[in-house]
Amino acid sequence: MSARRLAISQPDNFQLSASAKKKIAAWVKKYPKDRQRSALIPALWIAQKDAGGWIPEAALRELGDMLDMPYIRVYEVVTFYTMFNLEPVGEHHIQLCGTTPCWLRGSDALIEVLERRIGPRGSVSSDGKLSWVEVECLGACANAPMAQISNNKGDDYYEDLTAETFEQLLDDLSAGKSVNHGPQNSRHTSEPEGGNNTLTGEGPYLEDKLVYLPNTAKKTKMSVHGGAPKAKRKAATTTKAAQKPKVQKKAPAKKAAKPKVIYKGGPTDGTPDDLKLIKGIGPKFEKDLNSKGIYYFRQIAAWKVADVKMVEELIDSIPGRIKRDEWVKQAKSLAKKA
Ligand code: FES
Repeated sequence: MSARRLAISQPDNFQLSASAKKKIAAWVKKYPKDRQRSALIPALWIAQKDAGGWIPEAALRELGDMLDMPYIRVYEVVTFYTMFNLEPVGEHHIQLCGTTPCWLRGSDALIEVLERRIGPRGSVSSDGKLSWVEVECLGACANAPMAQISNNKGDDYYEDLTAETFEQLLDDLSAGKSVNHGPQNSRHTSEPEGGNNTLTGEGPYLEDKLVYLPNTAKKTKMSVHGGAPKAKRKAATTTKAAQKPKVQKKAPAKKAAKPKVIYKGGPTDGTPDDLKLIKGIGPKFEKDLNSKGIYYFRQIAAWKVADVKMVEELIDSIPGRIKRDEWVKQAKSLAKKA
């Protein structure tokens, strides 16, 4: 790794804005009292956004004071990570990936474009619109070659680039036109060009199902289908159905026993519990759970492993989160107090 140094020319009186300080204070609160230095990385990120895309030395000293850290510790961190810019950058700062997968897919041609239009690595264009650096893998190798471009709208990936599409992208950014991030060819996300070509047939999880949620009365639609887009799935199912020889209809199967219903419909059993008292449930999850008919600690306390899995899919939670945060255990203890 090359040595990274602070800019020789520094602003005379830089100070972090009040809103940046407020955001940093919120991060500091997430750590124990004598561990406020753990907030350094997010604090540096906030300072960089606040200063217009790079971090002046005055900001580093201010952060050292705020987090009660020796300045040298702050310098060590900021000079290590290439995501922190130590010199002023352009309005659109380009981080071009030059690691092997991107290199094999043509990043050299993109570097040639940048060198011609902006200058050597670390340069800012004469009009101040563009700047660029070369970085290591940004984790989007399936869409190589790619670049991350940061500006006042965000930090977005631009993927599946060619020299031609990259030139056009830079033209549009410089002209202030709106551009689409993501793949710059016909691909959708990381799917194959031309569309999805796997998991297109019939399968156990192709249709939306109506299921009973644990401890609720209403059936809820759960989307458990595979990768094929809905229209494609429908077409595939219809075609296969048309080809299928007609078979004798079986006698209707015995109705499966319904899960035990404890609460019918909405919160008819008094005031709903404040589910946010369960660590890991915020306002959004509470709203999602309520919308599925779950209002009480005792409902959550009764969940079994399969129920937890089903609820995780329904409220779009990260798999394993409910178990990790011990919602059921917490709900049991809260239900006793309620
Ligand atoms: S190698 Fe370029 S994103 Fe991974």
